[in-house]
Amino acid sequence: MGKHINIAIDGPGGAGKSTISKAVAKKLGIIYVDTGALYRTVGYYAREHGLSVNDVKVSELITPMLDNISIEIRYIDGSQHVILNGEDLGDKIRQPDISMYASAVSSVPSVRAFLLETQKELARKNSVIMDGRDIGTVILPDADVKIFLTASNEARALRRFNELIAKGVEVKYEDVLSEMNQRDHADSTRAAAPLKAADDAILFDNSGYEFEGSVAHVLEIIEERTGVKRIEE
Ligand code: DC
Repeated sequence: MGKHINIAIDGPGGAGKSTISKAVAKKLGIIYVDTGALYRTVGYYAREHGLSVNDVKVSELITPMLDNISIEIRYIDGSQHVILNGEDLGDKIRQPDISMYASAVSSVPSVRAFLLETQKELARKNSVIMDGRDIGTVILPDADVKIFLTASNEARALRRFNELIAKGVEVKYEDVLSEMNQRDHADSTRAAAPLKAADDAILFDNSGYEFEGSVAHVLEIIEERTGVKRIEE
């Protein structure tokens, strides 16, 4: 077994965190942990149980629901599956309205506390590249490498738009852009673990990069900082 490493990738939605992290994980032979999926799962449960995303009492309503939620992460053929109360949710958590639910519930401190140990434990037991909003600041403050990945609003919205269209979801670019701006604002201004770069994070704006170039750049940073080498070219 190789050296145990933890890599933290933070940044706003659509910056390419998940696709880049997934590719880097494969090259390094480590696990990719998508923490947004955990918040999406809590958001999904809340929607299924009648919570309205704009309810000012989100915090009061979601907190007691946590007693009825059990979330497990499983890896099947190297890809992450989130199991909610025994049910594998698959792509159900990828619907656009679930993004808004995830963002809403993620501002509630009890929700963040509820998901904290699951994330820390995965990183203790495995070498991981973990992406989210507070990985370098809260979840893995001692990560071997922290990268804050970003791109222009338009580049990010266009990527998200193309992803959704490729999945057959009917959306308008303008709606994706405005929803993304709204979500960025909420995620960065919330009191509990807001989206921000850790002081020791390396900033990487990948607006002008193709996907392969971004992957190569992230791999170089990790190899240089940890001494770990890719297992696959
Ligand atoms: O990365 P994503 O789009 O799947 O995340 C969905 C929402 O979850 C995002 O709007 C903010 C929240 N989130 C968070 O607060 N902390 C994380 N570590 C990951 C996601």
